[in-house]
Amino acid sequence: MQTVVIKGPSTLKGQINISGSKNASLPIIISTLLAKGDCFIHNVPNLRDTRFLISILKNLGCILDFQKNTLFVKNSTITKKSADYEYVRQMRASIVILGPAISRYKKFKIALPGGCSIGTRGIDLHLNALNLMGVKISIKNGYVNAERKKDKLDPIIHKFPRISVGATQNILMAATLANGNSKLQNCAIEPEVIDLINFLNKCGACIKVIKRTITIKGVEELKLNDYKVIPDRIEAGSYILATMATKGRLKLNNFNPKDLTLPLKVYREMGLKIKKISNSSFEINCKTLKPIKKIITKEFPGYPTDLQAQLIATQLKSGLKSKVVENIFENRFIHIPELRRFGANLSINGKTVTIHKTLNLLGAEVMATDIRASFSLIIAAMMSKGKTVINRIYHLDRGYEDFDLKLKKCGVNIIRKK
Ligand code: EPZ
Repeated sequence: MQTVVIKGPSTLKGQINISGSKNASLPIIISTLLAKGDCFIHNVPNLRDTRFLISILKNLGCILDFQKNTLFVKNSTITKKSADYEYVRQMRASIVILGPAISRYKKFKIALPGGCSIGTRGIDLHLNALNLMGVKISIKNGYVNAERKKDKLDPIIHKFPRISVGATQNILMAATLANGNSKLQNCAIEPEVIDLINFLNKCGACIKVIKRTITIKGVEELKLNDYKVIPDRIEAGSYILATMATKGRLKLNNFNPKDLTLPLKVYREMGLKIKKISNSSFEINCKTLKPIKKIITKEFPGYPTDLQAQLIATQLKSGLKSKVVENIFENRFIHIPELRRFGANLSINGKTVTIHKTLNLLGAEVMATDIRASFSLIIAAMMSKGKTVINRIYHLDRGYEDFDLKLKKCGVNIIRKK
């Protein structure tokens, strides 16, 4: 099992190139199932999750070639009409394959994704909407069996009972080839959803977004077109918080602050200074870190749940009964017991974590549990005196491209061990 060893305390100083967005790349790659032809998708991060998705699509019979952050996709017919458990259980996002696949193929079978460490993460919102589009759904032996009853999916006028990134992406993709015009309300509008829509419109789709309503005109066919994925706002936010936690100074390249408007407002209140160098380069530093009373995670444009764990870690030495409320997932505090191993003083009450400042943090042996929780352990290790060993770092490799190399270049004493 791979680990990283970090010797703290250390300060982030230097520059980091932000990679392409994992959560935009995944649905965009999946959406190529809808279209004919071939294309190059640029700025795809070379991560465990993107490589894994590529292997799933290859297993279905697609032709893909991934070289240095550029993915060549040549869409051929899917030879295999099922996404097997061995794949789907390792990456929840793969459930978003169902919408595109059942749009093009009469039958498709996909393993139930199952829960994960941050919560049950149901798929009811996905399946109920597909059912309304004329897909017969049955669940047997841990698989979702989908069958399209007509030549094309029916269009759908639907208000999602709760906001879901994946369900919004799954259904808007299914609607692009439906037999008529669809209207989806109470949609997720994260930048990663908008990037998927921009890619599909470039391939000939007709999708419009007004507030949380997305309208999709069903078209005859889509043709693949070259595209460049947006920068990863969560990776950027994670490095910004690490810079604040260690009072460092960082130049961020390939970063779009517009995708982090609210988090940057919060971080400025905490003492972050940010200076524009060019359209995509910014210099950040933080001399004094001020406590922030309360942060509640919300759907975009609210404070992202994917930056919750990292924000808690950043405040370990400055929190004055600072509270962080997790509103999106029901079990996204598994990093708390791991952060306590550094000596952090954190209490949990239901959905709320309270941070009591602890000046003396000491390195410890800890366990990574999900992508974003793992980065909070890196931040804590950089704030602590002595050696930290982080186990199961495949979680980090799922979401942070070359994280150890990027940190090492910025002065962090970090070594990856087999
Ligand atoms: C996406 O997951 C992201 N993953 C997550 O990032 C992110 O945390 C999440 O959106 C929220 O922003 C990808 O984009 C690959 P949801 P997704 O559907 O689509 C419940 C990371 O670290 N729900 O918006 O799975 C669900 O349980 C990952 O990069 C249902 O109940 O999230 C959750 O509580 C972690 N039924 C809430 O909705 C459903 O059918 C939001 O989930 C679907 C979701």
